[in-house]
Amino acid sequence: MHSSAQIGVTGLGVMGRNLARNFARHGYAVAVHNRTESRTRALMDEYGGEGTFVAAAGPEEFVASLERPRRLMIMVNAGPATDAVIDEFAPLLEPGDIMIDGGNAHFADTRRREAALRARGIHFVGTGVSGGEEGALNGPSIMVGGSTEAYAAVGPILEAVAARVDGDPCCTHVGADGAGHFVKMAHNGIEYADMQLIAEAYDLLRHAGGYTPAEIADIFRTWNQGRLDSYLIEITAEVLAHTDADTGRPFLDIVADAAGQKGTGRWTVQTALDLGSPVTAIAQATFARVASAQPALRTAYRGLSGGIVPELSRSEAERFATQVEYALYASKIIAYDQGWKMIQDGAAEYGWTIDLAAIAAIWRGGCIIRAAFLDRIRAAYTAQPDLVSLLDEKEFLEEITDAQVPWREIVAGAARRGIPAPAFSAALAYYDTLRAARLPAALVQGQRDYFGAHTYQRTDRPGTFHTHWSEPGRPETPA
Ligand code: 6PG
Repeated sequence: MHSSAQIGVTGLGVMGRNLARNFARHGYAVAVHNRTESRTRALMDEYGGEGTFVAAAGPEEFVASLERPRRLMIMVNAGPATDAVIDEFAPLLEPGDIMIDGGNAHFADTRRREAALRARGIHFVGTGVSGGEEGALNGPSIMVGGSTEAYAAVGPILEAVAARVDGDPCCTHVGADGAGHFVKMAHNGIEYADMQLIAEAYDLLRHAGGYTPAEIADIFRTWNQGRLDSYLIEITAEVLAHTDADTGRPFLDIVADAAGQKGTGRWTVQTALDLGSPVTAIAQATFARVASAQPALRTAYRGLSGGIVPELSRSEAERFATQVEYALYASKIIAYDQGWKMIQDGAAEYGWTIDLAAIAAIWRGGCIIRAAFLDRIRAAYTAQPDLVSLLDEKEFLEEITDAQVPWREIVAGAARRGIPAPAFSAALAYYDTLRAARLPAALVQGQRDYFGAHTYQRTDRPGTFHTHWSEPGRPETPA
């Protein structure tokens, strides 16, 4: 077997197959392998003419077909399946070879795998690939982890097949070991928040504004011409405009309203809790999916008393829609800001040096959260790499200031109407938490000291104190 392939893909599911095709279309000789060999044959039969593929029946043949240093891309399910593939292929590789994991692996697994393989001289490159099957084929956003040495060998190939914006590849070396998968996880957390915020905007326009799905599709198309210009807004308009062929009803009305999740949003929230990073909008979006998928509870309590939904005139509905746009955009700024803060907190915790502007740059295209908005975030972090928050950036601050009245109207109005808006509310509450002169956390500290002697700090002098609640008159003592 002539070792001619510049890159190999093992795992030819939709994503793996499309990535292999993408490599081949860009002129690379691509070794392809799948545990079930019929999948390899199907790829060759259907797409073999798209470029130079080297079909391998088994691991040995696959590895032998790769030029040195070998670049082997794993595209199998996160978790044990990835470990199994590593165990199968690692013994066949030599020092200097590179395993790229393009699945949605948990970054902690990637850190473990990278350290174990590094000890054997093999580079392990955990890589976030965003954009779904269409992105994999025509240009994803690629978040690469692992060593700089490995990136020198695989970066050019990955950049060649990535999406491009203004001629720049939506692919970068994010940082060492698990940084690539960490940032992909953050992408997915932000994606959850963005999707939930859009869904809440739809719900308000439908059930408070009185608009039909088709009318809301038009509203989203209009918003997509402005500051909310994004892939998620674009596809939302398509979903809302879609009619179910069987019933002729709006597609949305025949879809079961219980949201699924493969787990990356959950990981984001769990990780953020461990990091002490307040991703409140992402958390509410994740829990909104969980709450929607509780059929017994929802059936049991459907009839409970709720809010009052006033009929709106056409002009009132149009004003309401304008307010929803402000609330959606302001909440989006907060959700993205929380996502970037978590990336900063992760970098600090794990010792990564992550270029925050570069993350925004590679998310401008190819990925699910691609949006014009990201160009603004990139500009903000380019101008000020150590920016603490988007709220420190002049234009974002102006926009969120302009949104104050409508944002509050919408959140309060949702509550009055009994329409759940957990992500809108969380974003606003987080903003108000940041701006509060005094928070009720002082009372929480008092409660904790009362029942658990957990101590507290004072505002007027340094130190840690405990009050002797059961001994009135006894002065508090330094803890
Ligand atoms: C992407 C997507 C993708 C995600 C699936 C399932 O960046 O291409 O985020 O990686 O895993 O869309 O996501 P959920 O099932 O968690 O919604």
